[in-house]
Amino acid sequence: MGMEKTQEVIDLLQQYKQEHIINYMQTLNEQEKEALENQILTIDFHQLAELYDNTKKAVQIKENKIEEIQYFDKAKISSSKKSQLDNLGEKVISSGKYAVVTMAGGQGTRLEHTGPKGTFKLDVYGKGKYLFEILIDNLKEANKKYGVTIPWYIMTSKENHNETKSFLEEHSFFGYDKNNVILFQQGELPLIDTKGKLLIGKNKLIKLASDGNGGTFTSLRTSGALADMKERGIEWVFIGGVDNVLLKMADTTLLGLAIEQNVQIASKSIVKANPQERVGVFCKMNGHPKVIEYTELPEKMAEEVNLDGELKYGESHIMCNLFTIDAVEKISKEPLMYHWALKKNTYIDSTGKEIIPEKENTFKFEAFIFDAFTFFDDIAILRGKREEDFAPVKNKEGVDSPKTAKELYEKFWN
Ligand code: UD1
Repeated sequence: MGMEKTQEVIDLLQQYKQEHIINYMQTLNEQEKEALENQILTIDFHQLAELYDNTKKAVQIKENKIEEIQYFDKAKISSSKKSQLDNLGEKVISSGKYAVVTMAGGQGTRLEHTGPKGTFKLDVYGKGKYLFEILIDNLKEANKKYGVTIPWYIMTSKENHNETKSFLEEHSFFGYDKNNVILFQQGELPLIDTKGKLLIGKNKLIKLASDGNGGTFTSLRTSGALADMKERGIEWVFIGGVDNVLLKMADTTLLGLAIEQNVQIASKSIVKANPQERVGVFCKMNGHPKVIEYTELPEKMAEEVNLDGELKYGESHIMCNLFTIDAVEKISKEPLMYHWALKKNTYIDSTGKEIIPEKENTFKFEAFIFDAFTFFDDIAILRGKREEDFAPVKNKEGVDSPKTAKELYEKFWN
């Protein structure tokens, strides 16, 4: 049995030109070898080969028909219209048909915080508040207003799951009813080097990394969280990030707009601060709603202005997204494309020595949440305000740092 398995693994590695792993296996004891073999048999090598091929192709944005996207400006909606929308939204939330998902699987590398990003403490009001605590405050406020307890689903990664769980438990979920806090884990994909080779990690296994926030939908389904939502009678699902301290997770105007427009997806945007800001921007591609990520937006498009003198692609995606439960289910069954990024990663070479690279050496593959928008004909976009809706904690210093987020947060709440 053991030998058959070993042969199967060797054949696979040879077929996909991963012979360096065969060499590395010689350095392992039986137990370690078995663990590595089992892991290798779970890897989709065909998919990986395709992902590697894609890294050699340029992103073809030009071949598609790209247009500006339509949006509603919250500041320009009349007060009677606004209360009509708020009423629509309120009804859904107060009848317990609204759930919130927080994507907290990211690593927060840019922030240089060790541990899950939600456990980062922002220095506000002297005492400081954890990012998770700030989100909980927002949910509690909504619960009070609408007389419910919104079920809160938190997506973790394999890497940060246990730490996230114990952090929340240690802090007694910051007073949130723990029966309404559900953690689920996202998936992983192998990292590969620039020649398409798998890497070995310190744990003597193939190095894996989170597969991006686009994995949310599939993970919701496979973890059972989606079934749990259905059991609770949830109709609308908010999905947001962990690192925006002004994120409004229960915006009745946004929800009301989605209902009134009779669409399955909706999103809050803000005006892009400048062409270089590191945010995804909305557009329509071949008639479907789409976000082009800042890493993939051509410079010329970033700078284009429309007849009003505004940036043509200036509606920024701030990870404040709404989906009907049916939309979540539909997306969870459709494969999203993977984007790649070059990153620095240490690894163990085939002789067992640790290599610390000086420059970017690996491709990391990630699905993006907003690629799901293209499965739909329409989206309702509500343009909010930067000072009310967006204060991200991304970088250690400079723009979108704890310092800027603190200022925006304290200004909003004063
Ligand atoms: C993200 C958006 C970008 C938007 C910007 C606004 C994506 C792909 N990009 O960029 O369009 O303008 O925020 O702040 O959404 N996450 C996971 N699992 C993962 C990767 C990420 O849960 O595997 C979560 C993170 O914890 C975080 C969110 O997704 O809550 C965004 O991830 P991050 O990689 O920081 O995105 P940005 O580059 O900031």
